[in-house]
Amino acid sequence: MDPALRRVWTEVVLCGDYDEHMARIGQAQGVAALMRGFIGWAKPAPGARIAIVGAGTGQMLDYLDPAILRPYRLTCTDLNPAYLARLGQRLCANELEANLVIDDIERTALRAGPGLLLATLVLEHIDWRRGVEAFAALRPTRCGVVIQENPPGMTSAVTPGRALPPSTARAFEMAHANLVPEGELTAAFAAHGYVREYRLAEEVADSKRLIALGFGRVAGPALPLAFSRVLPAERPVQEMHLGVHVLHGTAHLPDGLLAFAFGYRRAVLPPYAKVIMVPRPIMGTLETILVVDDSEAVLQVVVAILGHAGFRVLSADSGPNALKVAAQADGKIDLLLSDVDMPEMSGPDLGEALRKGRPGMHVMLMSGGIEGNLLVLNYGWAYIQKPFVAVKLVQMINEVLHSADRSQPGGQGFDSRKDAG
Ligand SMILES: C[S@@+](CC[C@H](N)C(=O)[O-])C[C@H]1O[C@@H](n2cnc3c(N)ncnc32)[C@H](O)[C@@H]1O
Repeated sequence: MDPALRRVWTEVVLCGDYDEHMARIGQAQGVAALMRGFIGWAKPAPGARIAIVGAGTGQMLDYLDPAILRPYRLTCTDLNPAYLARLGQRLCANELEANLVIDDIERTALRAGPGLLLATLVLEHIDWRRGVEAFAALRPTRCGVVIQENPPGMTSAVTPGRALPPSTARAFEMAHANLVPEGELTAAFAAHGYVREYRLAEEVADSKRLIALGFGRVAGPALPLAFSRVLPAERPVQEMHLGVHVLHGTAHLPDGLLAFAFGYRRAVLPPYAKVIMVPRPIMGTLETILVVDDSEAVLQVVVAILGHAGFRVLSADSGPNALKVAAQADGKIDLLLSDVDMPEMSGPDLGEALRKGRPGMHVMLMSGGIEGNLLVLNYGWAYIQKPFVAVKLVQMINEVLHSADRSQPGGQGFDSRKDAG
């Protein structure tokens, strides 16, 4: 894990300071409320194994009726042995028993198969993508995670201008936790065969909210289903359950709304939904794709489709942010898939800028406008017209990735002979 974060949690933040801060910002109380919610959602059978990851000092027990945890076999983990010792005292005081394990969830030594895995550590504090992989590798039937949501305009997970206990203040100077994008997190779980079943938001201090998300493992292979050209725009779709499906994302497209869901093959589908399944043979082959779109909804859907199709997906909501993501990316980016028309930097300009440092990178552009097609032909780049369906997108990307690069310096001086080859 990130060495600065490891030092923060194992050496810097002292037990007492940690408890004082968590109680003051309402986080200990918030996590207790979310814990009650998780148990109510998952309804584990008495005797079930529950793993609580990043359990800290167990301060939530000060705000929780311990009876709700008593029927279960508990395993509580944390990086910091001193926190676990404090947690042990709290367990004793509440007549609860648990296995206490010093464990880094990013390289966990936990045994697979807890019925319920609860990551109460607030995912901002770890490399959340690795975290999701680790949770999924343990194959829990259900997995609950907690993320943080800020009021508009506040981007850091750290509240500016708050008085902090000394060791907590030092920790915030050493490492900045970034917020976890809920849509991408949901897509990352979906790529491991988990669908979102539950969401609860709990307001804490400074107008921040803690969000509990509950994911359930899909029996058998999870296939992505795209419900296309379907939902009248006025329909409330953000959290709509489609039979056994949980709607996962939506995109506003020129001719209506594209809804995207993960679920089972045998579905009771509403009459307005058309289902397109991504068949196995056209699944992706683990290349890295950088997806860029200034529409959050489109970005979420495309990231989810590609993640589920087997690609490694990076994403950004603007050209300048895409340049940053690419600069920080480890290894090769095989394809840039970008919207054409974005306010700060257009897709073609982004493609040109990125290809200077990555000449082998393929570029594919997408647009809802008719002029996009002509524009990108000038560069010899691939183009897909929005709206598209999942199957078409994955198919085209595979074609582009496995065909010769036909790019040429774009824009004004288009040489039609190059496009013939
Ligand atoms: C913000 S605290 C939340 C703790 C507790 N759930 C609560 O709400 O009071 C984050 C906790 O995660 C632990 N932690 C951080 N990184 C971890 C990792 N990679 N594996 C396990 N625990 C980790 C820290 O030691 C700390 O106790």
